Amino acid sequence: NVLILDFGSQYTQLIARRVRELNIYCEIHPYNKPPQDLSGFKAVILSGSPFSVRAENAPHPDLSEIRGKLPLLAVCYGAQYLAQFHGGKVEPSETREYGRANLSIIKDAEDLFENIVENSQVWMSHSDTIKELPENGIRLASTNDVINAAYRIEGEQTFGIQFHPEVYHTTDGKQLLENFLVNIAKVPQTWTPEAFVGMTVSELKEHIGEDKVVLGLSGGVDSSVAAVLLHKAIGSNLYCIFVNNGLLRKDEFESVLHQYKDMGLNVKGVDASARFLDALAGVSDPEEKRKAIGNAFIEVFDAEAHRIEDVKFLAQGTIYPDVIESISVSGGPSATIKSHHNVGGLPDFMKLKVVEPLKMLFKDEVRRVGAELEISNEILGRHPFPGPGLAIRILGDVTGEKVRILQEVDAIFINGLKEWMLYDKVWQAGAILLPVSSVGVMGDERTYEKVVALRAVESTDGMTADWVNLPYDFLQKMSNTIINRVKGVNRVVYDISSKPPATIEWE
Ligand code: XMP
Repeated sequence: NVLILDFGSQYTQLIARRVRELNIYCEIHPYNKPPQDLSGFKAVILSGSPFSVRAENAPHPDLSEIRGKLPLLAVCYGAQYLAQFHGGKVEPSETREYGRANLSIIKDAEDLFENIVENSQVWMSHSDTIKELPENGIRLASTNDVINAAYRIEGEQTFGIQFHPEVYHTTDGKQLLENFLVNIAKVPQTWTPEAFVGMTVSELKEHIGEDKVVLGLSGGVDSSVAAVLLHKAIGSNLYCIFVNNGLLRKDEFESVLHQYKDMGLNVKGVDASARFLDALAGVSDPEEKRKAIGNAFIEVFDAEAHRIEDVKFLAQGTIYPDVIESISVSGGPSATIKSHHNVGGLPDFMKLKVVEPLKMLFKDEVRRVGAELEISNEILGRHPFPGPGLAIRILGDVTGEKVRILQEVDAIFINGLKEWMLYDKVWQAGAILLPVSSVGVMGDERTYEKVVALRAVESTDGMTADWVNLPYDFLQKMSNTIINRVKGVNRVVYDISSKPPATIEWE
């Protein structure tokens, strides 16, 4: 188990993902709220930070329980912090130190640089530089612009590195993390999907016993993996509810429900399409739509949960990025804890005890666990799909007829991507029904019909995204098929906006 102390760097989660890729479990904690009990941790990594160590409000962690007691790797800000407050000196850099640099190794220590070649590319991102090493510091590596690119502290397993080993552009970054964690800290590499499944299933059994659990399935990866894990632990005491809000993809409800049943899950499909459409009637504002859909879902789910006698737990597919406490850069550290609800006004199912079997996993780990559980690639490889579904891809108000048109268009596009072997190259794709009509001509007749936009993006986490350079032949085929087959559409456009400044969805 490895502790990552976060100073608010945008790369902190990336450090954790790299560590997990080495089959080593790690946890991120804010620097000012470290775990009370450090006995389970075998090594500590200090993250970078948007702060300068010289700034008045910069993080000042108390490392007295860590330094010299546990192997410590201090990255960027961490390395500067150790220098500045332990007998060294940090000053603003004379040249900008962003981007690529090449590492010249002066001296290895305890195999920190094992299998790392001379002049290996590293990624720098800092505007301060370590002028003088901390007390007992020994320089290990330099780059052209950075004399103290890596150092250790004599007599301790404490290492500082100015570059970012977690980013892709640091070619041997993963090797360096492995060297620190495996060679130096001797952390066992036992965090595998198989081990996770074994451990989680026995914990769930223990925790839940003979009680009943209710879970809302969405068709997405997270809720599906959570359901299969729970099913493995407690069998038919897991009651799954899959609500059709009428805003899913064409035929998705039936086909996904069928797959869930084939997987042996105890699942009830509830068709509440009409209720959702009613709730959406006349609503055009995107946030109002989300609210209407959210409220309708709560009502439907609550009514269904009430039908299960004596249910004690509510299971959710929450994953690690949703629960990591983040450091706010503007003021003091702040926790991204969900807003406080008025417990009295909560629907009954929200008063159940919560189980979240995936809450320590990153998305890629959820997929690996899903594969270990033999969940089909059709579910594990599915593109993300927003909870409010097609309602936020129909700009303006939503009607049954508009949903039908968009489902047809979307199905042609998604099936086309699959047929052309493009589906897995795209992170997310879909169609948007625009609230404008345009003039066209079909045969001898003038038409005045709807415009649809196609959107396909590449991304890793949805935070940033770029449009995909789909082949013209493919776009031509899609446009043709859509206009010929879908009544009510006479024009197709392709969205070539990146996020930022645009977003992935149009609403
Ligand atoms: P944006 O449009 O913000 O989308 O770039 C980023 C990712 O979030 C999804 N998304 C949603 N998912 N409820 C959801 O469950 C929502 O209201 C919602 N809005 C956007 C979007 O599909 C993309 O994957």
